[in-house]
Amino acid sequence: MSALVDGLINDNLIPLKPYESARRLYAGGQDWLNANESPFANPYDVDASNFNRYPSCQPEAVVSNYAKYAGVADKQLIVTRGADEGIELLIRTFCTPGKDNILICPPTYGMYAISAETCDIGIKKVPLNADFSLDVDAICSTDDVNLVFICAPNNPTGTSVNEADLTRVLNHFTNSALVVVDEAYIEFDASSTWAGKLDEFSNLVILRTLSKAFALAGLRCGFALANEDVIGAMMKVIAPYPIPEPVAQIAANALSKENIVRLHAQVDILNTEKQRLRDALAAIEGFTLVGDTKANFVLFHYEASSALMAYLVSQGMLIRDQSKQMNLNHCLRATVGSPEQNDRLMALINTFMSETGASM
Ligand SMILES: Cc1ncc(COP(=O)(O)O)c(C=O)c1O
Repeated sequence: MSALVDGLINDNLIPLKPYESARRLYAGGQDWLNANESPFANPYDVDASNFNRYPSCQPEAVVSNYAKYAGVADKQLIVTRGADEGIELLIRTFCTPGKDNILICPPTYGMYAISAETCDIGIKKVPLNADFSLDVDAICSTDDVNLVFICAPNNPTGTSVNEADLTRVLNHFTNSALVVVDEAYIEFDASSTWAGKLDEFSNLVILRTLSKAFALAGLRCGFALANEDVIGAMMKVIAPYPIPEPVAQIAANALSKENIVRLHAQVDILNTEKQRLRDALAAIEGFTLVGDTKANFVLFHYEASSALMAYLVSQGMLIRDQSKQMNLNHCLRATVGSPEQNDRLMALINTFMSETGASM
């Protein structure tokens, strides 16, 4: 870094490294089963007739279509550049740098901590219990937090939260913190949504995305659902034109009646494939399935996970090493891909096992 940059950069950013996505690290990959994307690439058309104009800050058709889909009022929703922007907006809106804290429950999605670090917000960690349920007593005895992030279904464990546990957490923090339930994978466990409870809990915020079941990770479109005053506060911080016009058009179209029918059909296919992958993995000696099935990925433990990971990478098959996550030593996470990708993943694992695995 130049002396100028060294002298000017915010102190809290000095120890941080730019986010290294697998996309950046392994540009030559062939099968991308690392980021819980959908294998379906659905076609969309765009109308360029308004591209000379700035887009609407909150495109009306996207707001009303998603509010209808989620069963909330239009005013209980904000459209963001992916759920990731929702996380950052919440932190920037409700936490003061150098002073406030968020609470996270590892092992969980990494961006809560990354966003907090970049904003100079403290992170209090209350690990999940051994069965990946919430440690409610420990959460409720952690004070001085402004946001409590709970990922449900949780990435990377695929587990859901117990209703009574989350109710206790929401009630405990009624007057002190927002409880953010990240429902990025909710379409794979649809009956567990908390979207119907916004009227009951004034401190509930729900994050959603089009990146997973809607098969639109490339679009960068997500949502925060919350009560009107929470949404109003986030509107103070969001950029003036966060949702590009082509994104708004495609998102509104993805939320049409017929495309929601297609979404459900694709979720069914992925759920069947998930079970097929789980059965195949569980049948391999030394492999243990970890967590639950509520999302679009499988998590498994294998003692020689680094050697397997290196072999898969060498074959252009990218899954995600979760070994650095709390309590997930030697665990790998594979996104459920197309039937062909899943077959290739299993064929590669079987080849690895027959060539090297037996001697490990
Ligand atoms: C739990 C969870 N929340 C949020 C996101 C980010 O979603 P988006 O692509 O909408 O930013 C992800 C992406 O993997 C995720 O796993």
